[in-house]
Amino acid sequence: MDSIVVTGGRELSGEIPIAGAKNACLTLMPATILSEEPLTLTNAPRLSDIKTMTQLLESLGAEAASMQEGQVLTLSSHNLDNHIADYDIVRKMRASNLVLGPMLARLGHAVVSLPGGCAIGARPMDLHIFGLEKLGAEIELKDGYLHAKAPRGLKGAEIELAFASVGATENILMASTLAKGTTVIRNAAREPEIVDLADCLRKMGAQIEGDGTSEIVIQGVDRLHGATHPVVTDRIELGTYMLAPAIAGGEVECLGGKISLVESFCQKLDAAGIHVEETAKGLKVARRNGRVSAVDVTTEPFPGFPTDLQAQMMAMLCTAEGTSTLHETIFENRFMHAPELTRMGANIEVHGGTATVHGVEKLKGAPVMATDLRASVSLILAGLAAEGETIVSRVYHLDRGYEKVVRKLTSVGAKVERVRE
Ligand code: UD1
Repeated sequence: MDSIVVTGGRELSGEIPIAGAKNACLTLMPATILSEEPLTLTNAPRLSDIKTMTQLLESLGAEAASMQEGQVLTLSSHNLDNHIADYDIVRKMRASNLVLGPMLARLGHAVVSLPGGCAIGARPMDLHIFGLEKLGAEIELKDGYLHAKAPRGLKGAEIELAFASVGATENILMASTLAKGTTVIRNAAREPEIVDLADCLRKMGAQIEGDGTSEIVIQGVDRLHGATHPVVTDRIELGTYMLAPAIAGGEVECLGGKISLVESFCQKLDAAGIHVEETAKGLKVARRNGRVSAVDVTTEPFPGFPTDLQAQMMAMLCTAEGTSTLHETIFENRFMHAPELTRMGANIEVHGGTATVHGVEKLKGAPVMATDLRASVSLILAGLAAEGETIVSRVYHLDRGYEKVVRKLTSVGAKVERVRE
């Protein structure tokens, strides 16, 4: 298993290109199931999660081709010959459940394994099931698999979600594009990845309004056609690399970044004393002198502060002047990076969904263990400013969501290398 070794203490300077969004791509890919014609995605990120979704779609009978080293993906679902999403693939990645809505809409039936336990919380699927049942699907849980059918086809409905779940909104949105009549999703998730999915579905011929707000209205159509669509910029990768100069010092321009993707996050950076400027090429971030100030953060659905940036933000706040409080409201078990940061000298207390971070002057390098995707990158970020070497093990988590992380960080002057244990 590989480790990443970070030698701290170097100021950063230069440009980092930001990839297409993993989470957008993972919902755009299953959208191909809705049409017999090919869907081409450009600006796709090169990540193991994308390979897993490709494998899942191929197991259902879809064809996949990639060009430009994986940045262009063409998916074709003209010949779907299997309606079972197997546990062996689904257990690797929760986003596999995004094939459920499209399969039901196109084939009228689907069998999808429940994803099972996940390190950061229980993550049930009740809201997905609730929405699809409102559209007329009959869904039963048998032997760990959801057996879903819509023998008379799906019918538009009014659906009010109890929580603005990203995945449930995506599954219901995709399914309702081919339902008969009008669907209204209330308390819909407003994430940029939902807007990107709606944009792509419109290019495929869907009739959708209101994406990006809490009420999405879909007018069902008989069929969707092929399309070509560029994947939106990854706002989580963007926020992660914005934190690199904020932690290590220096100035980095994140190419392709936009304030609108990370507004609430930028407000917190500003309060901490980090300078962020939108340029023609992206977002320029600088910390020129002094320690950052403590800030309080509460994770919320978009447009609030993203849970997927909480671990990385904590890495910065470990060396802030003063005490910061982080409230995690989306996932119940998302502070597994805290004990690892403590090994590096951070002073953090965790009580339930709240972490209190008492800023220390400096962190010290230590061997630490990655526990999930965002936690692993937070340890690398922390290592950038720590004294000495930080060795992050179990970095396979990182390959799920960050392409070329070593290359991107070394290109701006960090000392980071991947070693085989
Ligand atoms: C997506 C993102 C993930 C991000 C999360 C929140 C992808 C592939 N993943 O995950 O990176 O951290 O949004 O921004 O896009 N819930 C239920 N019942 C359900 C569905 C969800 O109770 O049926 C709960 C979950 O347990 C969790 C919360 O709602 O506590 C948020 O989940 P959701 O918004 O659905 O996140 P995902 O789509 O899984």
